This record gives sequence, C-alpha cells and structure tokens, in this order.
Amino acid sequence: YGDPNQKIDYVFKVVLIGDSAVGKSQILARFARNEFSLDSKATIGVEFQTRTLVIEHKSVKAQIWDTAGQERYRAVTSAYYRGAVGAMLVYDISKRQTFNHIPRWLEELQLRGHADKNIVIILIGNKSDLENQRAVSTEDAKEFAQKEGLFFLETSALEATNVEAAFLTVLNEIF
Ligand code: GTP
Ligand code: MG
Repeated sequence: YGDPNQKIDYVFKVVLIGDSAVGKSQILARFARNEFSLDSKATIGVEFQTRTLVIEHKSVKAQIWDTAGQERYRAVTSAYYRGAVGAMLVYDISKRQTFNHIPRWLEELQLRGHADKNIVIILIGNKSDLENQRAVSTEDAKEFAQKEGLFFLETSALEATNVEAAFLTVLNEIF
C-alpha cells in the first residue's frame, strides 16, 4: 500500500463517525492495511491511519481519523473535525438504532462546524454480510441519503465488500 518515499501532492483528512460497534475501526483497518479482526476492541480517544493512493496521476495521502462511538471514550473536540474534507457516517445494517442515530451524527458534524463547509459525506451501512439479520432496508437508507444529499454505500469490512469503493467515492469527489 504505497511507497513511503513517494512524493505527496495532496493530503486529505477524512473522519469516521457513528455509534459504537458499527465497525468504523475495522473499515479503517480494511482500507489502510487490508486487515480485519472479529475481536476488535472499542476505540478510546482518537486514532488515525494513512494510505497513499494515486488519483489522476497525483499521489493523494488519505489521512483517516477514527474515534470512539461510545460517549465515555470520546475525546472529541472540534479538533477532530477541523480541516476534514470528507466524512464517513457509519451505521450497522443489523442494528436499527445505529441508523436512527445518524441524524444526530450529521448534526454534530455540521454544528461542530470546523469541518470544511464543502465537506463530502458518505453514509455507510456496514456489515452487509449479516443479510439474515438486516434491520435497515437499503431503500430506507438510500432515500435518507438522497434527502440529505449524501453519497451512500453498503459495505462489509469482514468480506472486504465496497470498502475500497466507499473511500474512493469520497476521495474522488474531494479531488
Ligand atoms: P467503537 O470504537 O466503540 O466506536 O466501535 P467501532 O465502530 O470502531 O467498531 P469496531 O470496528 O471495533 O467493530 C465492532 C465489532 O463489529 C467487532 O467485533 C468487529 O469485528 C465487527 N465488525 C466490524 N465490521 C464488520 C462487518 O463488516 N461484518 C461483521 N459481521 N462484523 C463486523
Ligand atoms: Mg473503533
């Protein structure tokens, strides 16, 4: 995943947000290192990872920030959002509540303000491998995304489905 000595043309900061256990950290692990862990621990505070990609012959360093969904572990100040040009709003397709909370995350993202006002946002329904436990229909999510002007994709960090596509959607749009 990228030559460390490569010259960088652009650095794009993207933030991951959403309820605890929806799979934010595993989506990031899949994208940054092509790894996945079933016994992933809850994130405490803030972490970030990077991956450099080539988009239209330019090298773009994606700096992806990940924070705790659990309130008590969240160390989120406006610094988390500051300078972000992309955001991934994640819910779990097998947990209705995590989808119901999306408007709150969207509000926090918009209110905390310090994110770029042209921030590119994608709604992500993760754990698409759990089709037999689905609690949020693709149609409902698509409709919500359309209404709010968000991109939308269902992903599976476990099966590596659409994770790359989700990041590329955001990064290409920023670019
Ligand atoms: P916080 O750090 O607490 O905010 O949670 P998080 O959103 O980072 O969740 P995390 O990535 O730690 O994943 C939570 C659990 O869901 C772990 O057991 C993961 O292995 C599992 N998980 C993550 N992505 C998927 C997926 O695509 N499919 C399935 N079946 N499980 C997943
Ligand atoms: Mg996490």
